Amino acid sequence: ALITLRQLLDDAAENDYALPAFNVNNLEYIQAVMRAADATDSPVILQASRGARAYAGDAFLRHLILGAAEEYPHIPVCLHLDHGDQPSTCISAITNGFTSVMMDGSLEKDGKTVASYEYNVAVTAEVVKIAHAAGVSVEGELGCLGNLETGAGDKEDGHGFEGKLSREELLTDPEQALDFVSKTGVDALAVAIGTSHGAYKFTREPDGEILSIETIAKINKRLPNTHLVMHGSSSVPADLQELFNAYGGKMKKTWGVPVSEIQKAIPLGVRKVNIDTDLRLAFTGEIRKHHIEHPDNFDPRNYLKPAIAHMTEVCKERFVAFRAAGQASKI
Ligand code: G3H
Ligand code: 13P
Ligand code: NA
Ligand code: ZN
Repeated sequence: ALITLRQLLDDAAENDYALPAFNVNNLEYIQAVMRAADATDSPVILQASRGARAYAGDAFLRHLILGAAEEYPHIPVCLHLDHGDQPSTCISAITNGFTSVMMDGSLEKDGKTVASYEYNVAVTAEVVKIAHAAGVSVEGELGCLGNLETGAGDKEDGHGFEGKLSREELLTDPEQALDFVSKTGVDALAVAIGTSHGAYKFTREPDGEILSIETIAKINKRLPNTHLVMHGSSSVPADLQELFNAYGGKMKKTWGVPVSEIQKAIPLGVRKVNIDTDLRLAFTGEIRKHHIEHPDNFDPRNYLKPAIAHMTEVCKERFVAFRAAGQASKI
């Protein structure tokens, strides 16, 4: 059976670790995450975006994930909706077997306009009321993802604000976070600290000016019992950029969120760390490599196998680095 986000994050808080939350879109992603979790004895959060639901279909996603739970009965699995854009999206996820939903009210439902604080509180509280009645957890978001150096909003993957944002908008206000959690009753809170989605987060190795772990410390002081969530937290490691570029890919030099910075945030209350881009890069890099090295092959299994294997390695590294390894059998 699937477990809720609340149950998983309560355990993470009790034992001071964090869970990577991996975005999944198809069978191969799910196999990769589950193999890594099995190899490291880690609990699992599988999250599906609106895009993933549209790509795979809700029935396929639900049954793939129930398949994962059946294949690995000793691994607790949470099925989470990533970035629900409005209450109706969260409700349809609940109807389709999700055990956790994110209501992202930081932007209006067009996905582009920065929402008022009152709007965010209202839609998030509405979802909490419905979800909790159904035994489902809720993640909210306060603050806007985006780049602290340029003021650019988060728009790499086609959603997010397109104009310039102020430093104030780009960093979650700790006092407001306290008010938001008490007014909405969310189980977990996503915060803005200078990260953004996709591969191009930073143009240099991030320091405290552009990646504000300090903001997490301030929020944790006001909200010591709230589970915090980091979005846009792929590390975009150099070796994955090199693999992609070595076989015809075109990615300009970029920096993600270093694993060492995420590790600093764990004792400060971060319990869920969202990762999608690193999986995409490992998977696509291996497929590029296979096609260059085996131009005669046309059996998809032959290139999907190394792609899954590399994705599995990335997942294992994150489970170990966030200290989730060894925790599944204790839940
Ligand atoms: O929110 C960002 C995640 O990486 C999901 O991306 O909307 O392209 O599936 P997606
Ligand atoms: P990345 O693009 O850094 O992997 O972030 C994923 C994410 O935050 C999904 O919600
Ligand atoms: Na999420
Ligand atoms: Zn996100």
